[in-house]
Amino acid sequence: MLAKDVIIALDFPTGGEALAFLDLFGDERPFVKIGMELFYSEGPSIVRAVKERGCSVFLDLKLHDIPNTVKRAMASLSGLGVDMTNVHAAGGSQMMKAAMEGLTRPDGTRPLLIAVTQLTSTSDGMLRDELLIASPMEETIASYAENAMDAGLDGVVCSPLEATLVKRRCGAAFLAVTPGIRPADSARDDQQRITTPAMAREAGSDFIVTGRPITRAADPVQAYQSIKKDFLGI
Ligand code: C5P
Repeated sequence: MLAKDVIIALDFPTGGEALAFLDLFGDERPFVKIGMELFYSEGPSIVRAVKERGCSVFLDLKLHDIPNTVKRAMASLSGLGVDMTNVHAAGGSQMMKAAMEGLTRPDGTRPLLIAVTQLTSTSDGMLRDELLIASPMEETIASYAENAMDAGLDGVVCSPLEATLVKRRCGAAFLAVTPGIRPADSARDDQQRITTPAMAREAGSDFIVTGRPITRAADPVQAYQSIKKDFLGI
């Protein structure tokens, strides 16, 4: 795993499609994200299959439950050998600490654990009127990130536009993993708050998560390499 890298969102409905996509990469072993769609359709076997190919895996299941349940669920996920996984910071500090305990393997190693602060689909109006959170969005995100840091987590998932704020409040070593990435010539799709890979680097992102600009490109490998170059500034 690199210190800074592009994570491809492996958003496919079946394992067959996901593995056929990875076949395109030949000897290259991209870091990939497996989310709910693929995990719930294929189960742990898809994680094992992707790991067997030598790829690092971010298992994006966003756990949010009582601390004991999250701890035990995390022990199961950690046993799959994933490299990064996540919880909702809204589950609270005790839940995040329990997740860390569950993730730690008998040999002392563990996957990176990051927290979702507020989903990028949550609007200011929804925060105030449905979730009844009176603080502004940015303060809520920064405060949830601080809770995650205090609980011992490695970082947060956030928009690249929030990465600078997260780094300012939590320090440079606290990871910012950022979706919402679009190369300058790419379709916006349903993403609202987007930046280019280079802008994400400048904002302080450690890992960018990119799906459709790679998975739906005419030449996915070329798209991946171009995004990686832009992000790493090489
Ligand atoms: O195709 P696209 O590049 O928009 O994919 C982004 C990936 O990151 C998707 O898997 C999406 O679910 C995920 N994600 C996101 N925004 C968040 C959290 C996760 O786009 N706040």
